[in-house]
Amino acid sequence: MRVLIIGSGGREHALTWKIARSPRVHEIVCAPGNGGMAGEVVQSSGVPVRCEKLRATDVAGMLELAMEFQPDLTVVAPDDPLAAGMVDAFEANGFRAWGPTKAAARFEWSKGFSQHFMDRHGIPTAQSRVCQSVDEAIGFASLFDGNVAVKADGLALGKGVVVCHSMPEAESAIQSMMVGKSLGDAGDRVVLQERLDGLEMSIHALCDGDRWLAFPSSQDHKPAYDGDLGPNTGGMGTYSPTPFMSEKAFQDAAASILDPWIKGCRLEGIRYKGLIYPGIILTKSGPKVIEFNSRFGDPETQIYLPRLENDLVDLMEACVDGTLGEHKLQWSTKSAVCVVMASGGYPGPYEKGRTITGIEAAEAIPGIKVFHAGTGDFLGEPRDKRRTRPGGHRSRSFPRSRQKSRLSGRRPNPFPRGILSPGYCSQGFCRVSSFNFLKGMGANNYVVYDKFKNHSGFMRGRRAGLPCHAAWWASR
Ligand SMILES: Nc1ncnc2c1ncn2[C@@H]1O[C@H](COP(=O)(O)OP(=O)(O)O)[C@@H](O)[C@H]1O
Ligand SMILES: [Mg+2]
Repeated sequence: MRVLIIGSGGREHALTWKIARSPRVHEIVCAPGNGGMAGEVVQSSGVPVRCEKLRATDVAGMLELAMEFQPDLTVVAPDDPLAAGMVDAFEANGFRAWGPTKAAARFEWSKGFSQHFMDRHGIPTAQSRVCQSVDEAIGFASLFDGNVAVKADGLALGKGVVVCHSMPEAESAIQSMMVGKSLGDAGDRVVLQERLDGLEMSIHALCDGDRWLAFPSSQDHKPAYDGDLGPNTGGMGTYSPTPFMSEKAFQDAAASILDPWIKGCRLEGIRYKGLIYPGIILTKSGPKVIEFNSRFGDPETQIYLPRLENDLVDLMEACVDGTLGEHKLQWSTKSAVCVVMASGGYPGPYEKGRTITGIEAAEAIPGIKVFHAGTGDFLGEPRDKRRTRPGGHRSRSFPRSRQKSRLSGRRPNPFPRGILSPGYCSQGFCRVSSFNFLKGMGANNYVVYDKFKNHSGFMRGRRAGLPCHAAWWASR
């Protein structure tokens, strides 16, 4: 099979890594892909993954690429191409695409639609109101003394929600979204929800239009810095499973949301195919949905896929064909944790083009996989030259035997703290807490780093003659 994967983040790298392990797949093209994706090799054929520079939302460009590549399956991973109708366009041109259509992806691109839908179908959620005017919004906020979440209706790159603790805070959030147009048209309509208290979790479920299959529990860490002390980010780390809820309780929570959801979809003629990802808060009166996403989470994908034992391509095809009922999800009993390493300044403006070092050394440790997000050109070499090289990027560095022996003599535990220290990426940072947390649980770990946020990547250091593990050793 030939597979086309759309996107360039850590999520898409994890998807590519997993799909490259399917015995059914012999060729993968990613668009636009990233440095890490370009370094993957399709296991069954030994063919390196090819990346094509195209904007993920460029529907016409993607179709042109598909005409040339003739994929048997196209995976549309990010929210914006889904909202742009990528799946609809592929289907209209006779290509099989995995992901919801534009109409079905509305659960993510319109929070107002989702909120009305939840209210119509009795899905447990916060008390809420979808507001078209400032007065209406302020009126609703005052019912809760300003303890509300103010949300732009449309896609806002994770910047469309302000969680408020007072009326002045709520008023200013409402004004800036609706009058100040801080988020453009996305803020024309706002959704107000009562502010819920409790642990936040996410549910991931595959869906084939008629039934859903939920993944195990996971949790992510959103604020930058340990102890939740920094600004909110797109996700600084994740782990799975969670210790505070049994898998049975988690699956029950998923059913309390997804059963009425799929029933509602059936009643309204929405055939949702792909991955549905409700964000929930575990309140004293049960789990409540705060939003729906219509795609895999990032960085949740990075911890789920290393635990997933099924062939992902089988499952994705079952979503498209409506045959998910024939499958059962199989999960490794190992735990997984993802520690995101980001360039200094993230989530604000951050420097790009920095060199990332130490990746081979990290990956030489069993159970560790480095996923990239938005890294630039692999090796900075012309594509054709790269493709003719055998074996993938791991064999291109210093000889593996030497790498192994140098590491094995000094490995007191599987957690290379040095890699995580600021010395590793001197201008960057990560949250060590999620990592330590899992270590405390004594779990078998599968450590994943992600989101280096450094464009045109780590390979430059090596080409300039720096050994790629230098920063790691230096930091010990
Ligand atoms: N009703 C709510 N009560 C408390 N916190 C909320 C509520 N809604 C959202 N939040 C917080 O704001 C974050 C972002 O909101 P969410 O609805 O997930 O939007 P998005 O992911 O599109 O930014 C959530 O992860 C959660 O921490
Ligand atoms: Mg969210």
